[in-house]
Amino acid sequence: MQYKGKNILLGITGGIAAYKTPDLVRKLIAKGAEVRVVVTDSAKEFVSPLALQAVSGNPVSDNLLDKDAEAAMGHIELAKWADQLLIAPATANFMAKLTYGLADDLLSTLCLATAAPITIAPAMNQQMWLAPATQDNLAVLQKRNVRFLGPAQGEQACGDVGPGRMLEPQDIADLVLPDLPQLLFGRKVLITAGPTREDIDPVRYITNHSSGKMGYALAQAAQQLGAEVTLVSGPVNIPKPNKVKTLNISSAEQMHETVMQNVMHSDIFIGCAAVADYKPLNRTSQKIKKSDQELTLTFIKNPDILSDVAHLDNPPFTLGFAAETQNVKEYALSKLQRKKLNMIAANDVSDDKIGFNSEQNALTVFWPEGEQKLEIADKSILAIQLMKLLALRYKENKND
Ligand code: C5P
Repeated sequence: MQYKGKNILLGITGGIAAYKTPDLVRKLIAKGAEVRVVVTDSAKEFVSPLALQAVSGNPVSDNLLDKDAEAAMGHIELAKWADQLLIAPATANFMAKLTYGLADDLLSTLCLATAAPITIAPAMNQQMWLAPATQDNLAVLQKRNVRFLGPAQGEQACGDVGPGRMLEPQDIADLVLPDLPQLLFGRKVLITAGPTREDIDPVRYITNHSSGKMGYALAQAAQQLGAEVTLVSGPVNIPKPNKVKTLNISSAEQMHETVMQNVMHSDIFIGCAAVADYKPLNRTSQKIKKSDQELTLTFIKNPDILSDVAHLDNPPFTLGFAAETQNVKEYALSKLQRKKLNMIAANDVSDDKIGFNSEQNALTVFWPEGEQKLEIADKSILAIQLMKLLALRYKENKND
């Protein structure tokens, strides 16, 4: 029951391999998943919605403008319900629609409306798969983190031989959800992410280059490992993680207040935000006029959120971050002690290809008895590795 508690939304498009999808539904259910099915109009030429309804135990959706279906479970609700959107088989036409963000039927609309990860099992004639347009679409979709399973090589329904066969239902069922042991099941995790914004006057503020990507990836990773996650986020321009309660704030003081209100019920706290260390002493109520050649502002220290959490009487397990440009290990270890943390993840931000505002990162994680290096990788992958490491340390800490 590897997929117990997971909701998989299966989208079926119009390829001959659609005839295998009732079997795919059964295999997903056998692994413990709850499955709902959406079919395109052409998929219905290859597989019967009635058969899919019978095997999935849920009504099959096929129409964006069906008032009865919308009343039962509207398309936005369906998009939010999914932990994973799987499109199998996916035709060349559907890949093209997804690449361009069309929303002219229920399935393509769901692809835009969901925050769940999307996995595609393509199935088409080998020449269509190898066509430059399809290969370009593949590259764009992969860049957007759409996962591809297959296609497999072999003999095709049309008699051609080459790449384009849909993977077998068992293989798709085995691979659709990444191996995510529920190490944090039942745990409450509170995470800060992004920059903070400190007002100078009604129109100006100071902030920093944090994109929020690492904190958001950690929130998603914790959720995928089974935790109930609350994210306290500064102003960012990235989509909210799926199934994570996100609380938006602006200043360090607001972040501090929101964290303190929520931390009592948390088992784990992760301070990933790039909190401004200082804020202007006085936020003027009127816009500062330019008059003198020089302008002097006085700043005062913001509260240290992470340290305050770690110094609570009954603190959660705490993980902090240390972004350093030199002496990374030394500074990280002193921060671990000074802030009374359980773990600290240090990244060297002197290399501008990783860390702040980039897709990739590399970390060295320290705890009182050890350390581990996590090599350069996409932040979503690194986040899973870090959360798995944290889950192990958390468990050992509890048993101490
Ligand atoms: O002391 P420094 O700012 O380098 O520590 C970084 C760590 O402390 C990060 O985990 C960051 O989220 C947290 N922090 C905080 N509140 C502050 C400053 C930093 O929670 N005011």
